[in-house]
Amino acid sequence: MTRFFSRASVVALVLLAAGAASAGPARYDLPEDTARLKPGPGAEVAEAHCLSCHSPDYIAMQPAKKGHDFWAAEVNKMIKVYGAPIEEADAKAITDYLTATY
Ligand code: HEC
Repeated sequence: MTRFFSRASVVALVLLAAGAASAGPARYDLPEDTARLKPGPGAEVAEAHCLSCHSPDYIAMQPAKKGHDFWAAEVNKMIKVYGAPIEEADAKAITDYLTATY
Protein backbone atom coordinates (compact mmCIF):
# COMPACT_ATOMS: atom_id res chain seq x y z
CA MET A 1 0.00 0.00 0.00
CA THR A 2 2.74 2.46 0.97
CA ARG A 3 4.52 1.43 -2.13
CA PHE A 4 1.57 2.30 -4.30
CA PHE A 5 1.26 5.76 -2.79
CA SER A 6 4.92 6.62 -3.15
CA ARG A 7 4.80 5.55 -6.76
CA ALA A 8 1.73 7.62 -7.37
CA SER A 9 3.34 10.70 -5.87
CA VAL A 10 6.45 10.27 -7.99
CA VAL A 11 4.26 10.16 -11.07
CA ALA A 12 2.41 13.25 -9.85
CA LEU A 13 5.67 15.11 -9.30
CA VAL A 14 6.95 14.24 -12.76
CA LEU A 15 3.69 15.41 -14.30
CA LEU A 16 3.82 18.65 -12.31
CA ALA A 17 7.42 19.27 -13.34
CA ALA A 18 6.57 18.62 -16.99
CA GLY A 19 3.66 21.02 -16.74
CA ALA A 20 5.78 23.73 -15.16
CA ALA A 21 8.51 23.32 -17.77
CA SER A 22 6.13 23.82 -20.67
CA ALA A 23 4.28 26.75 -19.08
CA GLY A 24 4.72 29.71 -21.39
CA PRO A 25 2.53 32.79 -21.60
CA ALA A 26 -1.08 31.67 -22.00
CA ARG A 27 -2.51 32.55 -25.39
CA TYR A 28 -6.12 32.21 -26.33
CA ASP A 29 -8.63 34.02 -28.48
CA LEU A 30 -11.43 35.74 -26.65
CA PRO A 31 -14.90 34.92 -27.91
CA GLU A 32 -16.66 37.62 -29.90
CA ASP A 33 -18.33 40.29 -27.81
CA THR A 34 -22.00 39.34 -27.53
CA ALA A 35 -23.03 42.02 -25.07
CA ARG A 36 -24.25 44.32 -27.82
CA LEU A 37 -27.60 45.35 -29.15
CA LYS A 38 -28.47 45.10 -32.84
CA PRO A 39 -27.16 48.05 -34.87
CA GLY A 40 -29.59 50.77 -35.92
CA PRO A 41 -30.47 54.40 -35.25
CA GLY A 42 -30.53 54.88 -31.48
CA ALA A 43 -28.50 51.77 -30.70
CA GLU A 44 -25.87 53.76 -28.80
CA VAL A 45 -28.45 55.43 -26.57
CA ALA A 46 -30.01 52.08 -25.81
CA GLU A 47 -26.65 50.45 -25.14
CA ALA A 48 -25.72 53.29 -22.81
CA HIS A 49 -28.91 52.91 -20.77
CA CYS A 50 -30.13 49.35 -21.11
CA LEU A 51 -27.10 47.18 -20.49
CA SER A 52 -26.02 48.40 -17.07
CA CYS A 53 -28.28 46.08 -15.06
CA HIS A 54 -28.71 43.07 -17.30
CA SER A 55 -27.48 41.52 -20.52
CA PRO A 56 -28.98 42.34 -23.92
CA ASP A 57 -30.55 38.87 -23.84
CA TYR A 58 -33.41 40.33 -21.81
CA ILE A 59 -34.26 42.46 -24.84
CA ALA A 60 -33.33 39.95 -27.54
CA MET A 61 -35.44 37.14 -26.05
CA GLN A 62 -38.68 39.09 -26.23
CA PRO A 63 -41.00 37.96 -29.03
CA ALA A 64 -40.21 39.82 -32.28
CA LYS A 65 -42.20 42.82 -33.49
CA LYS A 66 -44.07 43.50 -30.28
CA GLY A 67 -44.55 47.08 -31.35
CA HIS A 68 -44.30 50.57 -29.92
CA ASP A 69 -46.67 50.20 -26.97
CA PHE A 70 -44.91 47.10 -25.69
CA TRP A 71 -41.48 48.72 -25.79
CA ALA A 72 -42.75 51.99 -24.36
CA ALA A 73 -44.18 50.01 -21.44
CA GLU A 74 -40.93 48.06 -20.99
CA VAL A 75 -38.79 51.19 -20.97
CA ASN A 76 -41.24 52.86 -18.59
CA LYS A 77 -41.16 49.85 -16.29
CA MET A 78 -37.34 49.91 -16.19
CA ILE A 79 -37.52 53.54 -15.10
CA LYS A 80 -40.49 53.44 -12.71
CA VAL A 81 -40.17 49.98 -11.20
CA TYR A 82 -36.45 49.27 -11.36
CA GLY A 83 -35.19 52.84 -11.04
CA ALA A 84 -33.25 53.12 -14.32
CA PRO A 85 -32.02 56.74 -14.55
CA ILE A 86 -33.22 57.57 -18.07
CA GLU A 87 -34.29 61.01 -19.30
CA GLU A 88 -37.62 61.43 -21.08
CA ALA A 89 -35.97 62.21 -24.45
CA ASP A 90 -33.65 59.20 -24.22
CA ALA A 91 -36.55 56.96 -23.22
CA LYS A 92 -38.37 58.04 -26.37
CA ALA A 93 -35.32 57.46 -28.57
CA ILE A 94 -34.80 54.03 -27.02
CA THR A 95 -38.46 53.10 -27.49
CA ASP A 96 -38.29 54.10 -31.18
CA TYR A 97 -35.07 52.12 -31.61
CA LEU A 98 -36.50 49.00 -29.95
CA THR A 99 -39.74 49.24 -31.92
CA ALA A 100 -37.87 49.44 -35.22
CA THR A 101 -35.18 46.91 -34.42
CA TYR A 102 -36.65 44.15 -32.22
C1 HEC B 1 -31.80 49.85 -13.04
C2 HEC B 1 -31.54 48.56 -13.65
C3 HEC B 1 -32.12 48.31 -15.04
C4 HEC B 1 -31.90 49.06 -16.18
C5 HEC B 1 -31.02 50.27 -16.35
C6 HEC B 1 -32.68 48.40 -17.22
N1 HEC B 1 -33.30 47.29 -16.74
FE1 HEC B 1 -34.41 45.97 -17.78
N2 HEC B 1 -34.69 44.85 -16.13
C7 HEC B 1 -34.24 45.17 -14.87
C8 HEC B 1 -34.73 44.19 -13.92
C9 HEC B 1 -34.46 44.19 -12.42
C10 HEC B 1 -35.47 43.25 -14.68
C11 HEC B 1 -36.20 42.03 -14.17
C12 HEC B 1 -35.21 40.93 -13.98
C13 HEC B 1 -35.89 39.65 -13.62
O1 HEC B 1 -37.10 39.59 -13.53
O2 HEC B 1 -35.13 38.68 -13.47
C14 HEC B 1 -35.41 43.70 -16.06
C15 HEC B 1 -35.99 43.01 -17.11
C16 HEC B 1 -36.05 43.46 -18.41
C17 HEC B 1 -36.73 42.78 -19.50
C18 HEC B 1 -37.43 41.43 -19.41
C19 HEC B 1 -38.92 41.58 -19.38
C20 HEC B 1 -39.41 42.16 -18.10
O3 HEC B 1 -40.20 43.10 -18.19
O4 HEC B 1 -39.02 41.70 -16.99
C21 HEC B 1 -36.59 43.57 -20.60
C22 HEC B 1 -37.15 43.34 -22.00
C23 HEC B 1 -35.81 44.73 -20.21
N3 HEC B 1 -35.47 44.62 -18.88
C24 HEC B 1 -35.48 45.77 -21.05
C25 HEC B 1 -34.75 46.88 -20.66
C26 HEC B 1 -34.52 48.02 -21.53
C27 HEC B 1 -35.04 48.17 -22.94
C28 HEC B 1 -33.76 48.90 -20.82
C29 HEC B 1 -33.28 50.28 -21.26
C30 HEC B 1 -34.36 51.22 -21.46
C31 HEC B 1 -33.52 48.30 -19.51
N4 HEC B 1 -34.13 47.08 -19.46
C32 HEC B 1 -32.75 48.88 -18.51
C33 HEC B 1 -33.45 46.24 -14.53
C34 HEC B 1 -33.01 47.21 -15.40
